[in-house]
Amino acid sequence: MIERPPAPSTEPATLRRTPAAVFGGAREFHFEPQHFDLIAGLLYQLAGIALAPHKAEMVYARLARRLRELRLPDFDAYCALLQSDGAAEEIGFLVNALTTNLTSFYRESHHFDFLASNVLPEVRDLNAGRSKPRLRLWSAGCSSGPEPYSMAMVLVSAMGPELRRWDARILATDIDTHMVDTARRGIYPLPGATGIPAPIRQRFTTDTRLDGEPAVAMGEELKRLVTVKPLNLLEHWPMSGPFDAIFCRNVLIYFDRRGRMQVIENFARMLRHGGYLFLGHSESLYGVSNLFRQAGPTIYRRD
Ligand SMILES: C[S@@+](CC[C@H](N)C(=O)[O-])C[C@H]1O[C@@H](n2cnc3c(N)ncnc32)[C@H](O)[C@@H]1O
Repeated sequence: MIERPPAPSTEPATLRRTPAAVFGGAREFHFEPQHFDLIAGLLYQLAGIALAPHKAEMVYARLARRLRELRLPDFDAYCALLQSDGAAEEIGFLVNALTTNLTSFYRESHHFDFLASNVLPEVRDLNAGRSKPRLRLWSAGCSSGPEPYSMAMVLVSAMGPELRRWDARILATDIDTHMVDTARRGIYPLPGATGIPAPIRQRFTTDTRLDGEPAVAMGEELKRLVTVKPLNLLEHWPMSGPFDAIFCRNVLIYFDRRGRMQVIENFARMLRHGGYLFLGHSESLYGVSNLFRQAGPTIYRRD
C-alpha cells in the first residue's frame, strides 16, 4: 500500500524543527524564527551554505557576541543593519562568523599518501622531457591553512631537491577572510600542530609563540609554495588552471545539491583530464556528476 504523504504544515520550517528554547525573549537578546530565516537566507545567497533549522542555537551563540560588540539592543536592530545600505562590511563579518572552519594537519591522511604515491609520480611522467615541469594543486576551502601546508610538506618531502627546478604552486582559497589572514600568517598553536609527523615538523617548521602560547611557524620553503587568496566558490573564479589535483574537503557538505553541482561542474572544468578531486570523508559525487571516476575512497579522477 502506498502511504499518503503527510499534509504540508502551515507552520514555518524553523518552528517545526527547532528546539523552542532557542527562540523567544528569555535570553539576553530576543531571537525569533524570522531573524534566523533572514540570516540563514543571506548566508545561503552569499556563500551557498544551507543552514538547517537546528543550527539556530549556533547562529544565536555566534552572533550574540557580535551584538554585544556593536552594542545593539536586539536581533531586530542587527537584521536592520544587515539590510541597510552600508551593510557590506557587516555581511562579510556574518559570513566569517557562521562558517565552520574545523581543520587539522594531515586530516584524512590517506589523501596525502595518495598524493605522494599516485598524483606526484603521474605528474612527473606527464612532464618528462620538459625543462620546467609544471604542477598545480588547489586547496579549495582551505580554512586556516593546515590543509595546503600539509600538501606542501608532502610535495617537498616526496620530490626532494628536484622540486627546485619545477614550476610548482599550491593555491589555497577560502571565503572566510579571517581564515585567509591566518593561513597567510602560517603560525599555529602547538596543540593544533600535533598531527604533523615529528620528523616533518622538525624539518619544515620553527617553534615560536602565538598570543604568549607555544606555537609552530611554517617555514619559508612551504610558504613559498602556497599562495592564499579569498575566494567564494559560488562566484567567479579568476584563475585559469588546469590543476593536477583539487582538495575540496568538508566544504560541499554545507551546500545544497544545486550549489554542489555548480561547484563540481566548475572543478571538472578546472582539472586537466586525469586530474584528481579529493572530497571529505562524508562527501561523494554519487548523483552529482558523471564526469569523474572513483580512484579511491573519496578520491575522484576527471575523465
Ligand atoms: C570545515 S572547513 C574544511 C577545511 C579543510 N578543507 C579541511 O577539510 O580540513 C570548511 C571551509 O569551507 C569554507 N567555505 C564555506 N563556504 C564557502 C564558499 N562558498 N566558498 C569558499 N569557501 C567556503 C569555510 O569558510 C571553511 O573554512
